[in-house]
Amino acid sequence: MNRGYFITIEGGEGAGKTSLITRLVNTLQEKGMSVVATREPGGIPIAEKIRTVILDTEHTMMDARTEALLYAASRRQHLVEKVIPALEEGKIVICDRFVDSSLAYQGHARGLGMDDVWAINQFAIKDTMPMLTVFMDVTPEVGLARISQAGDREINRLDLELHSFHERVREGYQLLLSQYPERIELVNAELEREEVFQAVLSIVERRLKEVM
Ligand code: TYD
Repeated sequence: MNRGYFITIEGGEGAGKTSLITRLVNTLQEKGMSVVATREPGGIPIAEKIRTVILDTEHTMMDARTEALLYAASRRQHLVEKVIPALEEGKIVICDRFVDSSLAYQGHARGLGMDDVWAINQFAIKDTMPMLTVFMDVTPEVGLARISQAGDREINRLDLELHSFHERVREGYQLLLSQYPERIELVNAELEREEVFQAVLSIVERRLKEVM
C-alpha cells in the first residue's frame, strides 16, 4: 500500500502551474515535509523521449488516438519509475498534470470521448489515482496572453491549436470537477499570483491535515 500523498495540479495553458509548483514544494519542504515534484508528460528519461515525440511541432499528422496512447504510455512509465516508489517511501508527490489532462485534452477537446480515454488510462495507471487534484482555472484569453507575454516558454504542438480547442479543454476540466467533487478542488488562477498561491497552499495543508 502507498503511504505517501499524491497531488496533481491541472489546468489549461498559461494557468501558472509550473511556477506555483516550485513555490509550493519549497514551502512544504521548509515546513519539514518530504516532497517530490515531477511533471507529465516526462519526469524520467523514457517519458521525456515520448514527450518530444508528442509535442514536436512537425508532427502535425499525429492521429488523436496515437496521441492519447502516447500520453498513457508515458504516464505508465513515469508512474512505475518515479511516482509509486516515492509514494511507497511515504513522500508527498506533486505532479504537474496527470490523467485529467488526457480526459480534458484528448477525451473532451479532441473529441475521443472521456470514457474511451479513461479506459486506456485505467489500463495504464491501474488503481493509482491522486488523492487531491487542484484545477487552476483560467480562461484561454488570459492563459494564452500570459504565454505570449512571457516569451520564454517554447511553443509546443498543442499550443498551436485554435482558441476553440482551449475552450473545450476548459469545458473538459469543468466536467471533471462536477464528476469528482471530492477529489478535485477549484482555484481561480486569474487572481494575483500571491492570492493563487495562498489558495492552493491552504487547500493542500487542509487535505494533508486530514490524513496526518
Ligand atoms: P507542457 O509544455 O508541459 O505544457 P504546460 O506547461 O501547459 O503543462 O506541455 C504539455 C502539453 O501536453 C500541454 O499542452 C497539455 C498536453 N497534455 C495532453 O494533451 N494530455 C495529457 O495527458 C498531458 C499530460 C498533457
